[in-house]
Amino acid sequence: MSKLTEEIDLRRTFAIVSHPDAGKTTLTEKFLLFGGAIQTAGAVKSNKIKKTATSDFMEIEKQRGISVATSVMGFDYKGLKINILDTPGHKDFAEDTFRTLTAADSVIVVIDVAKGVEEQTEKLVAVCKMRDTPIIVFINKLDRFGKDAFDLLTEIEQKLGISVHPLSWPIGQGEEFQGVYNIYEKGLNLFSADNKQSVSDVVKIADVQSKEVDEIVGTEAADLLREELELVEVVYPQYTNEKYLEGKVSPIFFGSALNNFGIQELLDCFVRIAPKPQPKKCDTRVVSPYDEKFSGFVFKIHANMDPKHRDRIAFVKIVSGKFSRNTNYLHVRHNKKLKFSNPTAFMASKKEVVEDAFAGDIVGLYDSGNFKIGDTLTEGEKFNYSGIPSFSPEQFKYIDNADPMKTKQLNKGIDQLMDEGVAQLFTKVDNNRKIIGTVGQLQYEVIQYRLEHEYNAKCRYESMNIFKACWVTSEDEAQMKDFKLRKLHNMAKDKDGRDVFLADSRYALELAQGKYTEIEFHFTSEF
Ligand code: G4P
Repeated sequence: MSKLTEEIDLRRTFAIVSHPDAGKTTLTEKFLLFGGAIQTAGAVKSNKIKKTATSDFMEIEKQRGISVATSVMGFDYKGLKINILDTPGHKDFAEDTFRTLTAADSVIVVIDVAKGVEEQTEKLVAVCKMRDTPIIVFINKLDRFGKDAFDLLTEIEQKLGISVHPLSWPIGQGEEFQGVYNIYEKGLNLFSADNKQSVSDVVKIADVQSKEVDEIVGTEAADLLREELELVEVVYPQYTNEKYLEGKVSPIFFGSALNNFGIQELLDCFVRIAPKPQPKKCDTRVVSPYDEKFSGFVFKIHANMDPKHRDRIAFVKIVSGKFSRNTNYLHVRHNKKLKFSNPTAFMASKKEVVEDAFAGDIVGLYDSGNFKIGDTLTEGEKFNYSGIPSFSPEQFKYIDNADPMKTKQLNKGIDQLMDEGVAQLFTKVDNNRKIIGTVGQLQYEVIQYRLEHEYNAKCRYESMNIFKACWVTSEDEAQMKDFKLRKLHNMAKDKDGRDVFLADSRYALELAQGKYTEIEFHFTSEF
């Protein structure tokens, strides 16, 4: 096996996602503790934007600043090189999370046992399903009273549209929580809320029927466990690694991140089954990670908010081959060679300059404005990775120039902020006015603040009433022409000149969809 193949095979790059407060940060930290990447709990600053901070924009930016360091957390575990991609918890930054998922080879979804499947979880899993990303589900907070396990699994299957197969099973809940039975390895993992769980606490049993189980958890709980396990075998389809890797079945684990319970089992199973770096489609072919030649794409751009260092970091997922420092690479969109003297890798909470990185890894490249989200870098071949989707935004405002002397600065600022993926820009067809579309209110503040402080430009917003923006395409030219004419006041162009329909209301959208049957209405930019 070549050195390149050996290195690539060691990489496991994944994201932990959840609805805010389900326990993503706590779980991440426990993984890092197991990996020895940090020594004490609380050592990793949370990338989470606290709910209390939503009205305080600068506080949020401070927290976003922290998230540069925690954007990727690498650690070694059982000889593997593991990269956790962190994602902002705040829903107004959901687009950031969606894009980060394109750089993950697999995903662990954390669900709160009491709250079940929440809104953000649904959206995030929908994005994973678009690419058949393998998903492991971790049901957290078993130390608290929550939903019945079977009910919860049914809810997961229905709301997330995935097939599941439990690989562990809880014994009791809340006050009565005794631990979990590891279906995969036939072991009883007993709960104690002392934060010091280790594998040696797992009692190996030959069979769940054995009397030993009664002695440990009591006859009532043991009988219930046996009954439930029988049902598990009947209800859920056979688990196989192949099906998991195809994104067809999701293994389920139960535990408590805060109490460090069930975490090592999860991590051990993850390293055994999680996918290696995966091939990726570009516009000319499918690129294998083992290709000798380097290629990668930008999935995230982080601006430095410190006025003294106005640089940005472009996060590049390496798709194939080996990336080396101070080597010329082709920036395909600009058809320009670039080299990077300080590429950065991320180890837990610190950054360091690296000489080499391999397919599966993420490198941070300092950028003075060359990159936009989705850009491809190669060793010379001209191709582009597709598939960094934009989602149809949910909030819209006209953006106007508030200082006519600074038009140039304003346009440059808007352009660059859109390249970073802060929001989406549309230009109305009938009056040429610019519209900013976002997923959350916060982005408007971010844009206004940054235009002022980074570009010396001022903007003003004007509210508008739009329900949804969707991209429209059609094979039927005549119908498209008719549609565009009749809906002239609702038509806009996106940044790439594509047609966008701005529906005033759900009713207007449904009406248009019903009437113009030859037109396709797309809710993500990936079509
Ligand atoms: P997030 O990143 O998904 O938003 O969640 P985070 O890990 O920050 O956890 C949210 C809250 O849930 C935290 O409490 C955390 O301590 C708690 N938590 C996480 N795992 C468990 C668990 O297994 N059992 C119980 N009972 N609680 C858990 P907090 O009070 O909001 O924050 P903090 O002050 O503890 O940081």
